[in-house]
This record gives sequence, C-alpha cells and structure tokens, in this order.
Amino acid sequence: MLSLKDELTNFQTLMMHYECALCEIQTKIEVMDRELALVQNRNPIESIKSRIKTPRSIFEKLDRRGIDFTVSNIERYLQDIAGIRVICSFIDDIYKLRDCLIKQDDIVLLEEKDYIRYPKNNGYRSLHLILEVPIYLTSGKYMMKVEVQLRTIAMDFWASIDHKMKYKRDIPNEQSITEELLYVAEMINQLDRRMIQLRDRIDKPA
Ligand code: GTP
Ligand code: MG
Repeated sequence: MLSLKDELTNFQTLMMHYECALCEIQTKIEVMDRELALVQNRNPIESIKSRIKTPRSIFEKLDRRGIDFTVSNIERYLQDIAGIRVICSFIDDIYKLRDCLIKQDDIVLLEEKDYIRYPKNNGYRSLHLILEVPIYLTSGKYMMKVEVQLRTIAMDFWASIDHKMKYKRDIPNEQSITEELLYVAEMINQLDRRMIQLRDRIDKPA
C-alpha cells in the first residue's frame, strides 16, 4: 500500500507525462500545418486547443465506472487525460491531417471513432483518435495516450452549443431543442460540403 504522499507524487508525475505528450502531439500537428500551408498555399488548421483533465473530472469519471481513484487505474482505464482539439477549415483537411499523423512511425493508433462518416444520433460530428505518443525523459521513454479530436469550425460551433445543453439542467422543451439541434447539424454538414466546393472553384477555376 502506497502512502498518500507517494501516491500524490506519482499523480503529479503522471500528469507531467501527459503534459509532455500534449506538447509532442501539438508540435507534430503544428509542423504538419506549416508544411501543408506552404504546399497548399493555405493553413489547414484554424486553431488548436489542448487540455489536461482536472483531478475532479478524473475522479468523477472513475467513480461513474466504479473504479478506485488510484494512479495506476487512471493510466489503465482513462484514455482522455490528455486531449487536443484541432479545428480545421475543411473536412478534407481533417482526413489529410489524420493520415499524415498516423503514418508517423513513432505514433500508435489505438482507437478511431469517425463521427463524421457515422455521426452520432444527436448530430454530433468529429473525428476522434486515441493515439500513443512517446515522450523522452531523463529516466527513459514512455508511451502516453492522447485523445485527438478533429473537426471543422462549423462542427465546433455546433458542439459548443450542444455541450451547453448537457450542463444545463431542466431545459424547457428539451425534446424540441434536441430535434432542432439535429436539424442544424444537417445544415452544418451541407455548409461544410458547399465550402469545399467554393474553395475548389477558387483554387481550380474551370
Ligand atoms: P467519454 O466517456 O465522454 O470519453 O465517452 P467515450 O469514451 O465513448 O468517447 P467519445 O469518443 O464518444 O467522446 C469523447 C469526447 O467527445 C467527449 O468527452 C466530448 O468532448 C466529445 N463528444 C462526444 N459526443 C459528443 C456530443 O454528443 N456532443 C458534444 N458536444 N461533444 C461530444
Ligand atoms: Mg473517451
């Protein structure tokens, strides 16, 4: 049985490892953005947001699944301690970045959920990857899990409103709001597809 002090030290070390993994992935994504910007004459990425899950939200997630809050359980059962969200201009940029990223020989793709090709029933669209990325510390190499979410600006707009729904209790007319959100998700999908057509008409005039 570890002392509380040892467990706390291990927790801080693990969180530091996840922070380093976020730095590694973020750099890889920024490098791809720079290269593609030069090749395509435009940046595929609009913005990148990253976050480490807070201790409270780690505790709550383990608790919901009936798992004890220990450092080894965090590493074993949670795949989204380190999360990075990449907001792209166009849908095809998302798949280009995905392909370039998972082709890198130090990256391991553990899981992929394509909610763009197969949207969730509520209309949610994004591409989710669970990757393993190496970090190099003085004590050696560690493979760390990072959740990467790729989506367009329009999908991000939708997801931010949907996210608010989840945290607001007792919403009046919840059913009709859910239906309207699904309808809007379809409009956003149309919009994303028309934006690609517009871009292509500008890039490659007939
Ligand atoms: P979690 O327990 O949330 O990790 O679910 P999961 O392991 O089944 O993962 P999934 O890949 O489906 O979703 C993980 C993350 O994607 C969530 O934490 C959200 O950030 C985002 N997400 C998934 N579904 C929705 C949704 O319907 N709406 C919004 N706004 N975000 C979503
Ligand atoms: Mg998850």
